[in-house]
Amino acid sequence: MTERIVLAYSGGLDTSVAIGWIGEATGAEVIAVAVDVGQGGESLETIRQRALGCGAVEAYVADASDEFANEYCMPTLKTNALYQGHYPLVSAISRPVIVKHLVKAAREFGATTVAHGCTGKGNDQVRFEVGIQTLGPDLKCIAPVRDLALTRDKAIAFAEEKGLPIETTKKNPYSIDQNVWGRAVETGYLEDIWNAPTKDIYDYTATPEFPPAPDEVTISFEAGVPVAIDGVRVTPLQAIKELNRRAGAQGVGRIDVVEDRLVGIKSREIYEAPGAMALITAHKHLEDITVEREQARFKATVGQRWAELVYDGQWFSPLKRSLDAFIEDTQKYVTGDIRMTLHGGQAVVNGRRSETSLYDFDLATYDTGDTFDQSMARGFIELWGMSAKVASGRDIRVAGK
Ligand code: ARG
Repeated sequence: MTERIVLAYSGGLDTSVAIGWIGEATGAEVIAVAVDVGQGGESLETIRQRALGCGAVEAYVADASDEFANEYCMPTLKTNALYQGHYPLVSAISRPVIVKHLVKAAREFGATTVAHGCTGKGNDQVRFEVGIQTLGPDLKCIAPVRDLALTRDKAIAFAEEKGLPIETTKKNPYSIDQNVWGRAVETGYLEDIWNAPTKDIYDYTATPEFPPAPDEVTISFEAGVPVAIDGVRVTPLQAIKELNRRAGAQGVGRIDVVEDRLVGIKSREIYEAPGAMALITAHKHLEDITVEREQARFKATVGQRWAELVYDGQWFSPLKRSLDAFIEDTQKYVTGDIRMTLHGGQAVVNGRRSETSLYDFDLATYDTGDTFDQSMARGFIELWGMSAKVASGRDIRVAGK
C-alpha cells in the first residue's frame, strides 16, 4: 500500500505546494488537514477544494474553534499567561490543538507521517513535533521547508509550472499567523527592530490615536471563565470574538516585542490580541479581590512558568498538567463582574463586584464603622522586623571589631 502523509494545511502558497512537493520527494499520498481555530478569512470549504486541486488525495477540515476557545484560550486566561510579560501565547496555544487533529486524521486515514509547513528556525516546528511525539509516538514528522528544501522561490516556480490553483503573484512581505486569540506578524521590514510598525500590519485593531467614543463594558466571570458580556450570556468563543470586535475598535491589545525563541534567537514580533488582552486585564482584576494574597503571589510565579512551558512546546507535558491543577484550584472563587472602559488603546478597569470577594469594606474603611483594631499593628511590626533587626545588630557588631 502507498504510504500516506497527513499535512497541516493552511491554504497558503507554501502548504499548497507542499502537497505536490512531498508527493514527488517521497512517493507518498498526501492528506491535507485544515483546522479552524477561529482564524477567519477564506471559507474552509474553499480551502478544502484548493487542497484537492493541488493534488491531495483527501482534504479534511476540522472545526476546532469552540474546542480551542474552551480548552486552550480559557486555561491561558485563568493563568493570565503572558510570555516575557507581554505575549499572550497566540500561536503557541494553537499548535497543540492542531496537533490533536493531525494525529486524529493520521489514525483515520492510515497515515504513518505528519507534515507541517514550519521553517527550521522557529518555535512552531518544536511545538508541532513535540506534540506529535507525545500524542502519536509511532508517527514520523517531516517539514518540507526545512527537510525537503522547499524555498519560497521554488514554491512559486513549482506552482506556476504545475498550474496549481493558488495565487503566486500576491507578495505579502510578512509572515502572519492568526486565530481567535490574536494575530502574530513578523519578518520583512520589522526585522530592523528600530523600524516602527506601519499601519498596514494591523488587522484586528484600529489605530488607537483616533478612537471612537469610550466603550464601557461589563464582563461577568464564573470560576475564572467569562460567561456574560453586558448581561448577555456568552460562550468563551463568543466572549473572545465580541471583545476582539469592541476592544479592537479602540486599538486595545497591540504588542511590539523582541522575544526569546526556544532555539536561542531573539526575534521581533507584532501581536494584536484585543479580546485576549481585555479579558486578561479584567480577569486579573477580579482575582485581585477574590484570590487570597499568598495564593495570588504564588500563582504569579506559577503563571510565568506555565507561559514558558507552553511557549517552549510543552503543552502535553506532565509539569504543565500539574501546574494546570494548581491554577484550576485558584479559580474556585473567581466569580463576579468587572466593569471596564475601552478607549484609545487601553482597557481600564473602573469597577468590580463579587459575591465571593475578600474585600471587606469594614476592614478597609478610614471612615466610621472601621472594625480594624489598629492597636494590633505595633506588636505585629515588632515581630515582623525581629529577624532582620537581630541580623542588623550582628552586622554592626562585626563591623565595629
Ligand atoms: N513568535 C510567536 C511564537 O513563537 C509567533 C510565531 C507565529 N508565526 C508567525 N508567522 N508570525 O509563538
